[in-house]
Amino acid sequence: MKTRVLVSGGAGFIGSHTADLLLKKGYSVRILDNLSPKTHNGKWPEYLDKRIEKIKGDVWNKNDWKKALDGISYVIHLAAWMDLMPEFSKFTSINITGTANLYEVIVSQQLPVKKIVVASSQFVYGQGKWKCSKDGIVYPKDRPESDLEKGIWDPKCPKCKGKIASLPNTEDHNDPPNAYAISKYTQELMAINFGRLHDIPSTALRYSIVHGARQSFKNVYSGALRIFTLQLASGENPTIFEDGAQIRDYVSVLDVASANVLAMESSKADYEVFNVGSGKGYSVSDLAKQISNQLGIKPEIKPNSSYRAGDIRHAFSDIKKLKSLGWKPEYSEKENIAQFIKWFKSQDMNATILKKTQLKMSKLGVLKSTKNTAQP
Ligand SMILES: NC(=O)c1ccc[n+]([C@@H]2O[C@H](COP(=O)([O-])OP(=O)(O)OC[C@H]3O[C@@H](n4cnc5c(N)ncnc54)[C@H](O)[C@@H]3O)[C@@H](O)[C@H]2O)c1
Repeated sequence: MKTRVLVSGGAGFIGSHTADLLLKKGYSVRILDNLSPKTHNGKWPEYLDKRIEKIKGDVWNKNDWKKALDGISYVIHLAAWMDLMPEFSKFTSINITGTANLYEVIVSQQLPVKKIVVASSQFVYGQGKWKCSKDGIVYPKDRPESDLEKGIWDPKCPKCKGKIASLPNTEDHNDPPNAYAISKYTQELMAINFGRLHDIPSTALRYSIVHGARQSFKNVYSGALRIFTLQLASGENPTIFEDGAQIRDYVSVLDVASANVLAMESSKADYEVFNVGSGKGYSVSDLAKQISNQLGIKPEIKPNSSYRAGDIRHAFSDIKKLKSLGWKPEYSEKENIAQFIKWFKSQDMNATILKKTQLKMSKLGVLKSTKNTAQP
C-alpha cells in the first residue's frame, strides 16, 4: 500500500501544487480543507487531481482532524487564516488552535505519524536584520508613523538613530509584528517543541512571497502580483506604495512544493526551521515592470507615496540553510509571472474584486497616505 500524506489546506495554492508533487512521487494524498470563502467559491477547485482523497473539514475542529488523520504517515499543515484585516482572534483560533488540535489528536490517539511540516512565513522577521556602520547588526522595530507621513521610508538604527542597510534574514531571528506573524511564529514553536516532547519529527518552513498559478484572486492578503495584474489588465496604473524601492523575495510555488516534500522526507530537517525563498530580491516597482512587460502594456510605473500601516520595508531571506539539504530554487521570477498570467487569463476575472478589497482596507485604516500626497 502507498504511503499516505495528509495536506491540510490542500485545495489552496501551495497545497494543491504540493499534492501534485506528492502524487508524482508515488504517495497517496488526502486533503483536509474547509473551502474557505476567502479563497474558494464554495466548491472543490477543478485543478485538483482526481486521485486526491478530499475531506471537507476545519482544522479548528478536532473531530475533523481525527477523520483526516486516520491511516496517515505524514502531514503537511498549510491551512491558515491569512488577512491584513484586524481580526486578531481569527488568527489565534484557526492558526494557533488548528495546530494545537493537530498535535493534540496525534498525541491523545497515539497515531503513528512520522513527520509534520508546518507552513510559516517570512513575516515572522518583522522589519528584519539590518546593519549599522556604528552599532553592527540591529533589528529595528516598526517605522514610526511620523516618519512614514513625511515619506521617510527606511527604518533607523534603534541605537544611534543613524542610517542602516538591510541584510538577508537568517533563521536565528524572529520579531513577529502582527497577528498573522504572531500566529505563524506560535505555529513554529508548537511544531518544534510539541514535536520534540512527543517524539513527532517536525519542521517549520518560513516561505517568502509565493508566486505561480492557482493563487486565489479573492484573497486580500495575496499580494502585489495579483493586484498589479488585475490593475494592469483593467487599464489602470499599478498602485505602488511608498517609493517602490521596497525589496521583496518572490519564490515559485513549485519550488515551495519541493521544499515541503524535502522537509517531509529528510530526517536532517527534523526539529528545524528553514527559510524558503528565491535567493533573489526585486523592488516592487521592478515587479510591476516585469508584469507589464509580460502583459505587453506600457503603463506609468510611478510610486504613489501612500503606505500601509505596519508594512515591512525590505524582506529578503537567506536560503543557505535549506540549500545545505540539497534543495535549490529552480524557477525564475520571469517564469513565475508567466505561469501566473497564463492562469489569470484562464480565469473569469474583473477589477471589481480588487476595488472592493482596497475600499475595505481604506475604511479599516489599513491603507494610509503621506500628509502631502493626494490618495490615488
Ligand atoms: N502564499 C504565500 O505567499 C505564503 C507566504 C508565506 C506563508 N504562506 C503560508 O502557506 C500556507 C498556504 O497558503 P496559500 O497561499 O496556499 O493559501 P490558500 O488560501 O491558497 O490556501 C489555504 C487553504 O487552506 C484552506 N483553509 C483555510 N482555513 C481553513 C480551516 N480553518 N480549515 C481547513 N482548511 C482551511 C483554504 O480553504 C485554502 O484552500 C498558509 O499557512 C500560509 O500562511 C503563504
